[in-house]
Amino acid sequence: MTTDEITDLLTEAYIDELETVMNYQTNAIVLDGVHAEEVKTSLEEDVQEELEHARMLGERLKQLDESPPGSEAFEATQSSLQPPEDTTDVQSVIEGVLEAEDDAIETYRALHEAASEANDPVTEDVAVTILADEEAHHTEFRGFQKEFPQD
Ligand SMILES: [Fe+2]
Ligand SMILES: [Fe+2]
Repeated sequence: MTTDEITDLLTEAYIDELETVMNYQTNAIVLDGVHAEEVKTSLEEDVQEELEHARMLGERLKQLDESPPGSEAFEATQSSLQPPEDTTDVQSVIEGVLEAEDDAIETYRALHEAASEANDPVTEDVAVTILADEEAHHTEFRGFQKEFPQD
């Protein structure tokens, strides 16, 4: 059985995924320098995965007889993922990605809990599938962060 909490979380997560697609794509394009290549490649791969997450969330909303939102519902929140003024500042992008992945992990944990409480195993499965990807993204960028220690 679905609840407003579940559809609200699915909608919020859908918007967050599409904002993430935009910012990862932008940063994959703008970063410069010898240290940037690995991060750029990883961001490009993650764009495809985040887009797939949005698709799964949108399909689940449709199954629950709701529509995923259009762009008028969009409110940007990822201030730390804006392209850096200094395009060699790979560290700031890594920090922004870690923040975005932490937020995503929190959202999918909340979605999993709400779905579990509402006895909605299909939404639970969507939450767990995406959560596993977000934890993998977080781990990868924590590795990049170790390579680029803060001064
Ligand atoms: Fe995602
Ligand atoms: Fe992610």
